[in-house]
Amino acid sequence: MRLAELIGTLSLATDAGTGMPDYHALRGAAVAVRFARVLGADARTVADAYYLPLLAASGCTAESHTSAEVFGDEIQIGVDTYGLDYGSAPAMLPAMFRTMSRGRSKVGAIVSMARSMSKMPKMRAVGRAHCEVAIHLAERFGFDEPFRAALFQAFERWDGSGRPMAVKGEQIALGMRIAHIAVDANVGHRLGGVDGAIALLRKHGGRGLDPALVERFVVAAAEICAPLEEPSTWNTAMAAEPAPQRSVEGEALDEGLRAIADMTDLKCRFTRGHSTGVAQLARAAAAWLELGDETETALTRAGLVHDVGRVAVSAAIWDKPGPLTDSERERIRTHTYVGERVLSKAPGLASVAEIATLAHERLDGSGYHRRLPAAACSTAARVLAAADVYQALREQRPHRPAMGADQAASELRSMARGGSLCPDAVAAVLSGAGHSVRPPVRPSGLTDREIEVLRLLARGLTNREIASALDISTKTAGHHVQHVLEKLHVTTRAAATMIAMKTGLAQA
Ligand SMILES: [Fe+2]
Repeated sequence: MRLAELIGTLSLATDAGTGMPDYHALRGAAVAVRFARVLGADARTVADAYYLPLLAASGCTAESHTSAEVFGDEIQIGVDTYGLDYGSAPAMLPAMFRTMSRGRSKVGAIVSMARSMSKMPKMRAVGRAHCEVAIHLAERFGFDEPFRAALFQAFERWDGSGRPMAVKGEQIALGMRIAHIAVDANVGHRLGGVDGAIALLRKHGGRGLDPALVERFVVAAAEICAPLEEPSTWNTAMAAEPAPQRSVEGEALDEGLRAIADMTDLKCRFTRGHSTGVAQLARAAAAWLELGDETETALTRAGLVHDVGRVAVSAAIWDKPGPLTDSERERIRTHTYVGERVLSKAPGLASVAEIATLAHERLDGSGYHRRLPAAACSTAARVLAAADVYQALREQRPHRPAMGADQAASELRSMARGGSLCPDAVAAVLSGAGHSVRPPVRPSGLTDREIEVLRLLARGLTNREIASALDISTKTAGHHVQHVLEKLHVTTRAAATMIAMKTGLAQA
């Protein structure tokens, strides 16, 4: 898989996690390369200019709870301050007030603004944390020290008013100065085309941006902004990666995905290590079910990235101890949709995305966000769903303590009995978690589908109900039931139910 695809995918997540419009970072990267070439920069600088915008916000989940405490919603503040000069208090304060005003009375907004201002000094540490996490991630993606040093300057400014080191002028790496201009050009272009890009750059020149470089940009602005006119940003940005295109395979890809997992889990204080835990459980379960090396690898990787869409929901919601409001619940449910969008662009992640995006679907159709029926959930997706539930139950959440292993196991078994989780997947996950589980039974050569039918039949479902549970026609369900009875050498449902109970198929 290409490295650009992997960190391009990460950038889609960080765009969503910082309130930026779709493809914000990828657009910046495509423009940065072109600008660096117009400047006649050396190959190293051109390459850095491409990767820097993609990773600039990768530390965005660090200290999310602090940002949420200061701004109320650490993602909305990004939306409300889009295109503003972050170093200008007169520009930023009204925008912050807008964020604070959402859902509040005027008096309430003034009070929270005052509270927010008193907490503002905490944001210095947050900015540094973003940079430190970003360079840590960059190392895990294989970027060298000079690149990481440039990345650490993502929030520095030409006039020295940036953070965390307050370096200024040419102390800021050339690649990063180019990236800063490219990212702002993209913002200006969104607001007003090439003229908008020029206007925004001139406004920020000498403050956040290198003024001499801004003038170089202006001379060739239309040519440099051309990638922003292309219909497919993803394809344009992928094609813009400077040669030699870097790739990540095997262990390097696993490490990159683990980095994304850790970045995701950093978002909420209660989920640290969650994604790697899910991945380990899923791997063990896949081995137990003998799903084969290819599925085992895809499933493990899906475990690592299944929650990546979480970054797009405020930590104020994830960390909230009390009951959630309907709208907060809705926000949470969007995380799988965002995850699907983030994971669906990179061809190299297609087999992973196919599983990962189904983590919250349930066999009885009660899951989200697609509410798929059982028939649409592959074995791998069922395993991932069970692994995710088990791992989550074993972790503390703001509204409940962590469950013990036995309690979590019985919860999973009851979900399988209730029809929301797959009994085989639950057995495999419990076995992977160290519980003693009977190996799956396949009486009389029943197929997977027939086993499923037998289970539903044993729960007393009619043909019509079986059909609706499996999203098949009643006639097909009837055929399946007939085959099951024939293979079991019985003629009644009661006798088939007895066999299901005896072989453990009626239980999880
Ligand atoms: Fe999860």
